[in-house]
Amino acid sequence: MSWEKLHKRAHVPYSKIPKSCVVESIKGDFYPGVRIENVSFPLTISAIQAACFSCLSESDTPKKLYLPNKDFDQLSFWENEFDLEVIVADTLPQTKLKPLLHSSKVEEPKRLKELLEKAITTHSNFPVSALLFSKSGFVEGVNIEVSDWALGLCAERVALAKAISSGETEFIEIAVHTKFGDVSSPCGACRQVIFEHLPLNKIRMYHADGTLSEHFSVDLLPFSFTSKSLKK
Ligand code: THU
Repeated sequence: MSWEKLHKRAHVPYSKIPKSCVVESIKGDFYPGVRIENVSFPLTISAIQAACFSCLSESDTPKKLYLPNKDFDQLSFWENEFDLEVIVADTLPQTKLKPLLHSSKVEEPKRLKELLEKAITTHSNFPVSALLFSKSGFVEGVNIEVSDWALGLCAERVALAKAISSGETEFIEIAVHTKFGDVSSPCGACRQVIFEHLPLNKIRMYHADGTLSEHFSVDLLPFSFTSKSLKK
């Protein structure tokens, strides 16, 4: 894998400036992360955030960060947050990236319940889990909170960040589950990001009381913010 190849996974229709990085974990696995822009620019997921959260969502801890250069958003924040060793390298570490896409069958409600245990909810104690399905399999997500509240991510967006960083582009549906609360309903920010990648797809919500409801993402975000003029 080369930087050029990994850069191609970035979703950058607005800046056209791809960014990618790789996090090496304490367990010795390598997690890719790419920049994932949104038409609402402040919802953009940075490459480092994507890589660190992929790692954390798999119950692992980031240790080293490989970058092609130092021109990355939030670099000093993530460096301090996880005490990362930052390595600027012309070539990617020649090792296999951890496969995050599962092609096996999944018992959706059971797996969503199990996944709640992996959520990192230091501030909220409100675990959320998500399963994102593409043509070739599914990716698991949980919500992750860090010292800066604004730099945490919801389970839905962690799943999307993992899948897109793994090279997935076409999604079929997403399922979400919260441990507590009346309904397992994606927040407004997640709806906007889901809409960019699954505009006409189904969202399955497994509520805390054991009931299920299914919705189309387009119905959950009427008058969504879309503007072709923002594309370069
Ligand atoms: N959260 C999600 O994971 N998904 C949502 O759609 C709503 C909120 C998480 C984010 C944060 O970790 C916690 O729930 C409280 O907001």
